[in-house]
Amino acid sequence: MNCRVINEVEIGKAVDDALKKSLCICYPDDVKVFSRFTYWRNVPSYRILIELDSSIIAHIAVVDRTITVGGRQILVAGIQAVFVLPQYRGKDLCDKMFSLVLDEALLRNYDLSVLFCKQVLEKYYNRFGYKTLSDREIVFTDLSGNKGLLPDKNITMWAPVRMNTFPPGDIDLNGCDW
Ligand SMILES: CC(C)(COP(=O)(O)OP(=O)(O)OC[C@H]1O[C@@H](n2cnc3c(N)ncnc32)[C@H](O)[C@@H]1OP(=O)(O)O)[C@@H](O)C(=O)NCCC(=O)NCCS
Repeated sequence: MNCRVINEVEIGKAVDDALKKSLCICYPDDVKVFSRFTYWRNVPSYRILIELDSSIIAHIAVVDRTITVGGRQILVAGIQAVFVLPQYRGKDLCDKMFSLVLDEALLRNYDLSVLFCKQVLEKYYNRFGYKTLSDREIVFTDLSGNKGLLPDKNITMWAPVRMNTFPPGDIDLNGCDW
């Protein structure tokens, strides 16, 4: 079972097809998107893949975003489309993947890593070093260009990369969430 980092630009047709297949299985509500694309609104910068035979059995995508916090530009490794195929869940495959994500983020000079998830997954992401960012309003820009406050249907979690603390001040994602 091979766990590796791949740059988005290096993804060929076989990996692209395998990713779409696994994304459709793990995100059944989003089959319309994932049958055509391997990402949501942001093209990832790099991904972590665990492959077995010709399938991608576990995956994390990382999007490259610059957000503003307290007037400072913060380079964020944004976590997207985390999945483990159903038959491989419960085997701690994400431990190795998140360790690689954060090592690679450091090599690439990111300040922090940030993800958005359902409240029920808070403890799960705590395992990989992510902490909940509470009591902070987050401004985002929707696809029509309108700014607003990020709705609280998801929680925001962050992990240290070059920075050990999340800086104080107002947060603007400078675009949509990921
Ligand atoms: C989330 C996911 C990657 C976890 O797979 P995994 O790393 O093998 O982790 P496990 O299946 O061992 O689950 C770890 C814990 O999270 C819990 N969990 C996982 N998904 C959950 C969900 N949707 N709702 C509630 N709890 C969930 C499990 O019950 C388990 O809890 P426990 O440690 O108390 O037993 C996998 O369930 C998946 O691919 N889900 C579909 C895609 C998805 O929702 N991704 C996350 C987007 S933020």
